[in-house]
Amino acid sequence: MADTYDFGLVGLGVMGRNFILNVADNGFTAYGNDLDEEKVNALIEEGGDTAKVNASTDAETFVKALSTPRKIMLLVPAGKVVDIVIESLLPFLDKGDIIIDGGNSFYTDTDRREAYLKEKDINFFGAGVSGGAKGARRGPSIMPGGSREAYQFVKPIFEAVSAKYQGEPCVAYLGPKSAGNYVKMVHNGIEYGLMQLTSEIYDLLKKAGDLSNDELHETFATWNAGRLQSFLVEITSGIFAQKDELGEGDLVDKILDKAKQKGTGKWTSQNAMDLGIPVPTIDIAVSMREISALKTERVMADGIYNRPSLAPVVKDSLVSKAEKALYFSFIITYAQGMHQLADASKEYGYELQLGEIAKIWRAGCIIRAALLADITEAFQADANLQNLLLSPSFADKVQETVTSARELVAYGATHGIPLPGLSNSVLYFDAYTSGRLPLNLIQAQRDYFGSHTYERVDRDGIFHTEWEK
Ligand code: 6PG
Repeated sequence: MADTYDFGLVGLGVMGRNFILNVADNGFTAYGNDLDEEKVNALIEEGGDTAKVNASTDAETFVKALSTPRKIMLLVPAGKVVDIVIESLLPFLDKGDIIIDGGNSFYTDTDRREAYLKEKDINFFGAGVSGGAKGARRGPSIMPGGSREAYQFVKPIFEAVSAKYQGEPCVAYLGPKSAGNYVKMVHNGIEYGLMQLTSEIYDLLKKAGDLSNDELHETFATWNAGRLQSFLVEITSGIFAQKDELGEGDLVDKILDKAKQKGTGKWTSQNAMDLGIPVPTIDIAVSMREISALKTERVMADGIYNRPSLAPVVKDSLVSKAEKALYFSFIITYAQGMHQLADASKEYGYELQLGEIAKIWRAGCIIRAALLADITEAFQADANLQNLLLSPSFADKVQETVTSARELVAYGATHGIPLPGLSNSVLYFDAYTSGRLPLNLIQAQRDYFGSHTYERVDRDGIFHTEWEK
């Protein structure tokens, strides 16, 4: 067997198998590796021609089959497995070879691995891959970070296999070290926010508007044909049309209301707190998954408290306000995520270009949306834009939709329909756009009880007062 395969991939689960077949479809030869013989055989069978796609359970055979510098992608579960796989490959690698971690690894793990492998002259990339199993097969959005020089070897393959937006590949070199994993983490935080908001609007339309699943299917489909066009709105429409194969009725009504999580949304939130960047829509999306997990307690509490009865609404007007509120809160969620990226870039030296990031999110990934074309333009117009809310084009969009968001938040609060993502989006907007907040009082309190000092609006310096009472 000649050492001619262009690309290697470890981890032949659904994502890995699909990714490698995508690589082969684009004219590159590819070699897979997995400890599970069944997966190896399944790939060889599906690949058809072993000169183009081949696989082995043996690490040495796998590594030796690849042309140098070797480009080896790992699509294995984040955590210890990544370290174990790296150790299994290391004895057979040569200087200059490239390992790419395509999983949702925590960014500090990527920094640690990059430093460890650098000592051995092995290049390490953390490359977020978004789009699920279908995306891996037909074209994902790829977010690579690592050595800029080594990226040149990976670039042709990634550009070929990635999703395309109007012919432009949804992949770009994002920055050094863990930049790629970090960007993917925030992508997932935004994903959590958008999903939470969509579920709240569903709840509102169902409870207050009495929309049937068929009507919800139609409503989301209509929205998806407009400015809300996005992968998540599109699949939401599809979900409402899905019949239950195990019984009567629609599948959505049979699904237990406990949302699981693998941690990337929580990491986004935790890191935003560390950076001091507010992302309350993402925070509450994480909290809602936690509240959803408390099903037994929620059912008990539901039996204790009365819920206000619902006031009648005009269906068409509710649907129209819901569209505006969803659009508004989607903007706010992207604004928070982009703000976090801007700050993290300074803090961690990523040198991120937010316009490039928005650009590679326009297709392939879970948060792809028509809005991302506008976000790309906003950051291209001003690369130093602090926050999307400061962009004149977004100011118009927000101005036009915020009133509906407010009205629905008020309706939800009055009638006991929980809309925490929408509420937090409105409160973030109101706070961020308040030239003066009442936190002067907090500074006074801190100085009063702890001599923590304060600044003044009318002169420079640090002040402390001996408060009289
Ligand atoms: C993607 C997704 C994906 C993630 C799932 C599950 O971009 O393709 O973000 O990477 O694994 O969305 O995330 P949770 O299990 O935390 O919901």
